Amino acid sequence: MPPVTALLSSPRTDALTARGRDFLGTRHAILCGAMSWVSERHLVAAISNAGGFGVIACGAMTPELLDAEIAATRTMTSKPFGVNLITMHPQLLDLIAVCAKHRVGHVVLAGGIPPKGSLEAIKDFDAKALVFAPTLALAKKLLRSGADALVIEGSEAGGHIGPVATSVLAQEFLPHLAEDHVVFVAGGIGRGEMIAAYLEMGACGVQLGTRFAAARESIAHPAFKAAFFSANARDAVASVQIDPRLPVIPVRALKNAGTEEFTAKQREVAQALDQGQVDMHEAQLEIEKFWAGALRRAVIEGDVENGSVMAGQSVGMVRAEEPVAEIIASLIGECEASLSGN
Ligand SMILES: Cc1cc2nc3c(=O)[nH]c(=O)nc-3n(C[C@H](O)[C@H](O)[C@H](O)COP(=O)(O)O)c2cc1C
Repeated sequence: MPPVTALLSSPRTDALTARGRDFLGTRHAILCGAMSWVSERHLVAAISNAGGFGVIACGAMTPELLDAEIAATRTMTSKPFGVNLITMHPQLLDLIAVCAKHRVGHVVLAGGIPPKGSLEAIKDFDAKALVFAPTLALAKKLLRSGADALVIEGSEAGGHIGPVATSVLAQEFLPHLAEDHVVFVAGGIGRGEMIAAYLEMGACGVQLGTRFAAARESIAHPAFKAAFFSANARDAVASVQIDPRLPVIPVRALKNAGTEEFTAKQREVAQALDQGQVDMHEAQLEIEKFWAGALRRAVIEGDVENGSVMAGQSVGMVRAEEPVAEIIASLIGECEASLSGN
């Protein structure tokens, strides 16, 4: 039997996503956003094999681990996939060198403004650089400095989030950038009708995380997936900053005992900052290490009480473990129906 996505006819969706599909080299302009611990070889290959665009989450991996992960992913898919690197990783340029060694076609820089030299290093091996930008002015600057595409991600998303809703970002960015630039929209997308709306506003494609995190091919622990199936939108809450001296990027995750632990961690790090034991950069790295550890606990060990079950508000639309190809088929089917006025 051919893959379910090959059966789809979606001329209207295809027309609106032509630039995005061309940019990604895929059948569908749907990225599965990198999710630390979740977006490893199995999910990434499954997404790309189903016609979407998988992205390896490098997270806190060493260059050696990333090297092995890219190589392993290549054995599972011949389709394009990308690598997501966190800008504050102390070995960012070494990680980019690993991507260059493997001739990775697309590198996504996440978690902050790309540091000097990083965009250039990506362009040096002819890869495409995707960036996130919280404001229109910064987006324009990054696109002028060599970024090839933009992901705008609203606060409905799972994981680290900005303060503004996707619907507002879409209105702020798309009318100014969509004509001349490749822009993908992320955050809070659970169904194809929503994809249709952003495509009609000029987006070239979309990025989803939450809908794919509990897919059949995801290696996430069964308890992590079960937590998704029973959660509602309102359970996916943003973390709270307790100390104005320690600006932490909020994280959206399912409410649990781990949420309280983060409050305690912030107090501990703020105190270390006060006492001069760490500087601001180290303090922020400490916080990021906390999240990486807490997410691992939930995704890999299945401790959904004390770990961090990062999830976006669309988690209420994830009700069962579905193969990636079926999720993509539903999204495209809904999008096409919406664009056709059915
Ligand atoms: C469990 C989880 C982990 C995530 N980890 C990362 C990450 O390591 N790097 C990153 O850039 N985004 C990360 N994200 C964000 C996703 O890549 C994606 O942009 C987001 O999930 C899209 O919004 P949605 O959750 O509403 O679909 C994560 C999201 C989730 C749900």
